[in-house]
Amino acid sequence: MRIRLAHLSDPHLSPFPKPSVGELLSKRAFGYANWVKNRKAALGQDVLERLLADMRAQNPSHYCVTGDLVNVATDAEVQAARAWLDRLGPPQRVSVILGNHDAYVPGAAGRAVQAYGPYIPGGQFPFARRLGAVALIGVSTAVATPPLMACGRVGEAQLGSLAALLDRHDDAFKVVMIHHPPDSDLASGRRGLTDVKAVREVLAAGCADLVLHGHTHKPSLTHIETPRGRAAVVGVPSASSDGSHHPPGAWAMIDIDTDQRSVHLTRRGIGRDGTTVRALETVEISA
Ligand SMILES: [Fe+2]
Ligand SMILES: [Fe+2]
Repeated sequence: MRIRLAHLSDPHLSPFPKPSVGELLSKRAFGYANWVKNRKAALGQDVLERLLADMRAQNPSHYCVTGDLVNVATDAEVQAARAWLDRLGPPQRVSVILGNHDAYVPGAAGRAVQAYGPYIPGGQFPFARRLGAVALIGVSTAVATPPLMACGRVGEAQLGSLAALLDRHDDAFKVVMIHHPPDSDLASGRRGLTDVKAVREVLAAGCADLVLHGHTHKPSLTHIETPRGRAAVVGVPSASSDGSHHPPGAWAMIDIDTDQRSVHLTRRGIGRDGTTVRALETVEISA
C-alpha cells in the first residue's frame, strides 16, 4: 500500500483577536507582548495560504498537524483554529495534536481538545487511527508552564497507553505525531521534553516506524534505533514563517510504501528567493 501524508506544524494562526484584560492577567501577557513584537510580522497568513495551496495540489491522503495552532490560547483563538481546521479538510482526512501554545495557561489544553473536536480522534491522547496499513498515533506533550518556559511532558499514564497502542498496531506501519521533538539535541531545558528519555525508550521498544514533530520551527531529520531498524524523526518549520526569525515556511510530503517499508520525504516550501513554493530537498528513508 502507498499513502501520502502532509505534515505541517506550528501555524500559530493570525491575526488573533486582542485578548481581554482578564485574559491577559496570566502568562498570556508575556505571550501577547511577544506576538506583537516578533511573531505578528514573522508569521503570516500569506505564507500559510501559499503552502496550503501547494499541499492541496499534491493531493495527500491525510494531513498531520503537529500542534501550536494558536499563540496564547484564548477562547477566540481556539475557535478560530477550529474554523481553520474545517477549511483544511474533513476529520477523516486531518489529525491534530496539541502543542505547548495550545495549552498556554492552566485549563487551555482541555478547551483546545474540545474546540478541535473530531480532529483529535476519540477526543483524548494518545489516540490511534488506521489509514489502511498505516497506524497514525497522536501523543500530547502539552502542559501549561510558567512564563518563559516552553517545555513539554508526555507523562507516565500516556506512556503506558502509547506502549499498548504501539503493540496493538504492530501489524501496521506506525507513524507517531508528537509536538516536542523526542530528541534533546533539538530541544532541551526550558524548551524540551522533560521525560525525553522515557519517550524514546517507549518509541524504540514499540518499534515506531516514523515520528513527526514540530516545536523547533526548523527542518530536521534524526533517528531512533529500534529492534527492527531505525525510526526517522522528522521536524518541519512553522507553516507560517516568512523566514525573518526562523527558516521559511515549509511542509513535509511523506510518501510511504508499507510493503517495502520505505519512506520518501520531500520538503516543500518557500525557497530563499522568498516567492515560490517548491521541492527543497528529497530524502529516501528505510524503516
Ligand atoms: Fe511553535
Ligand atoms: Fe511549541
